[in-house]
Amino acid sequence: MSIGISGVEMAEGAAVENYYLWIKALHVISIIAWMAGMLYLPRLFVYHCGAERGSVQSETFKVMERRLLKAIMTPAMGASWIFGIAMIALNPDMMKGQGWLHAKLTLVLLMSGMHGVLAKHVRLFANDANTKSTKYFRVMNEVPTVLMIGIVILVIVRPF
Ligand code: HEM
Repeated sequence: MSIGISGVEMAEGAAVENYYLWIKALHVISIIAWMAGMLYLPRLFVYHCGAERGSVQSETFKVMERRLLKAIMTPAMGASWIFGIAMIALNPDMMKGQGWLHAKLTLVLLMSGMHGVLAKHVRLFANDANTKSTKYFRVMNEVPTVLMIGIVILVIVRPF
């Protein structure tokens, strides 16, 4: 982001840059909350598989899963997208030729798809209609982890 040459432009440039850093901070806060849920929810499913349908334990898992998804993960995903797109809007040149950002956004789209799959499983468990095994959810637990590692390496190291 280039700061202008005149005093006014420099002041404006510095103000936008400061504003940009606040948005980036809010972006990182949002993705931490989103990732916390993406890593924890499949773990809840692993334990939920072992609870008898209709039991107090199963009903408790349903409440935990629904609140984690609706009160934390979905708002955090929305905020991550809003602050991420706001940074691109403030600095659109970033989209030109920055392979790391294109690759990052591809992995982020996969992460958002994974969010949708987890939301589907919350609904299935809520209706006592889960058919997946503990092993399936253990493997599922690794997908957001691998995506997150790839995303952070791309945005920090920028290998291409
Ligand atoms: C949801 C859609 C997302 C969009 C549109 C997006 C976009 C962006 C953009 C444009 C930047 C600023 C880069 C710069 O200033 O050079 C950024 C920074 C960052 N993003 Fe995202 N991002 C998204 C999701 C994520 C996710 C899921 C993670 C982590 C799992 C993540 C981790 C980061 C980090 C750590 C930074 C700060 C990098 C730095 O300090 O330079 N982002 N993001």
